[in-house]
Amino acid sequence: ARIDKAGFKHFMAKEIAEQPTVLADALGAYLEGDTIRLPGQGVDFSRIERLTLVACGTAFYACLTAKYWFEQLARLPVEVDIASEFRYREPPVLPGTTAVFVSQSGETADTLAALRFCKGRADRILSVVNVETSSIARESDLALPIHAGVEIGVASTKAFTCQLNVLLLLAIEAAVARGHMSVQDRATLLTQIRGLPGLFNAALDRDASIEAAAQKISEARDVLFLGRGTMYPLALEGALKLKEISYIHAEAYASGELKHGPIALIDKTVPVIVMAPHDALFDKTVSNMQEVMARGGKVCLITDATGAAEAGEGVWQVITLPEVDSRLAPLLYALPAQLLAYHAAVAKGTDVDQPRNLAKSVTVE
Ligand code: G6P
Repeated sequence: ARIDKAGFKHFMAKEIAEQPTVLADALGAYLEGDTIRLPGQGVDFSRIERLTLVACGTAFYACLTAKYWFEQLARLPVEVDIASEFRYREPPVLPGTTAVFVSQSGETADTLAALRFCKGRADRILSVVNVETSSIARESDLALPIHAGVEIGVASTKAFTCQLNVLLLLAIEAAVARGHMSVQDRATLLTQIRGLPGLFNAALDRDASIEAAAQKISEARDVLFLGRGTMYPLALEGALKLKEISYIHAEAYASGELKHGPIALIDKTVPVIVMAPHDALFDKTVSNMQEVMARGGKVCLITDATGAAEAGEGVWQVITLPEVDSRLAPLLYALPAQLLAYHAAVAKGTDVDQPRNLAKSVTVE
């Protein structure tokens, strides 16, 4: 099929915008009524004692998010690592370990080397890939396709939400297999997941408010992202996206770490982007946000209507997303993070689809 920008200014804009349809298609491939259908022999989570998730870049942040899901939903211990560290540290891979490699391209040299290290050591090797014919897919025992379609923009967008989708479905399978979720609860959760493409559309409808915030943020030299729980890896992903394409220095911290260092940076020149749906950790994050504001920091709060009503006062910018089950929030909150980076880059006039010094797939070390 011919790949073009379909009327968008950049591939990245097109790939962000197509996420509702792409996710709906990906769900179509994995869901069957009230059940999840995995390819091949599937995965028997009742026999797995621990997972090791390994990846690079954006795929690594998908793994970091998945750790929260596997541990909280399925009580399954998870180790997560960056492939370039994992491969040379040569960590002990204990019996009972299933190793999972996440890669859009399936060709990232460090991730492939980490996979080869696990051969003969891990009980089983799974991969979560976009390219089903890739080396990583071929060398794993079971490859789970994310069905994102061809991704051209160097900064990964739809592949990230589709990686999260497959990892979430795996965590749900693990939860049921390990006796931590009933099939009824799975059915209810799958109904919510089927609603995500609609919520994606609603989030994309907020584009004007995100663009307005991004234009202000594009004037900054340094930006801080904060989040707690699954919003911590999302904050890391938001900071990565922003620095990759707008060249603005951005860092992310777990909200609770603010007091251990980064708070020293706070002044009116450093925008702080706080990712905080109104969930069980909301009040904690809001108190961190108030510490920022008390020091003259400018906060851009990404939250839902309840969060905005409770904590929006005095905040510099508020981006309001639809309400979503807190377990599914990482997928939805990825969209404003992508759009903020995109619009900041457009405002700065950088080459969005081909940022300097970066490659879509890093097949050499
Ligand atoms: C490169 C890309 C990133 C990507 C990373 C991992 O650095 O610029 O966007 O996240 O590689 O790529 P993979 O294909 O393994 O997911």
